[in-house]
Amino acid sequence: MASKRSKIAFAGTQEQEQSLRRLMDRLKEQPGALMPVLQGAQEIYGYLPLEVMEIISVGMDVPLEEIYGVATFYSQFSLNPKGQYRISVCLGTACYVKGAGDVYERLREKLGIAGGECTPDGKFSLDACRCIGACGLAPVMTVNDEVYGRLVADDVEGILAKYGA
Ligand code: FES
Repeated sequence: MASKRSKIAFAGTQEQEQSLRRLMDRLKEQPGALMPVLQGAQEIYGYLPLEVMEIISVGMDVPLEEIYGVATFYSQFSLNPKGQYRISVCLGTACYVKGAGDVYERLREKLGIAGGECTPDGKFSLDACRCIGACGLAPVMTVNDEVYGRLVADDVEGILAKYGA
């Protein structure tokens, strides 16, 4: 269970926990409440660390394994925090055939993290995504709202340097 966990320590606040508890109190008796509670928890914390899943497990009286199973099954949930700069590489077909896999590999190598993870300083997170509708610019990656297209792996270093890597 721990292999994809972030190296960043959990730093939830009292206010966040109170919001989560209020949400659980409101939804607890409703059928199918786990999904909206997990969605709400991710909105409150930005991601679903183990500590939050434990609070939900106790609060909703649902085994932790079940919560972990749901959180890892649906791609809308993230078990790791996002970085200040959220990097996303499109691995859709058009991008993939034009070498997006090499770009993604180079990013993993340069940042020292796997896909879905965040650097220990909280600066960069890396994800793969599906087609973002910019196939004419393939291969494409985004950093927050900035789009970079027609990439080759050797562009990676220069782009990261713009963000202080
Ligand atoms: S496949 Fe990458 S933008 Fe469409």
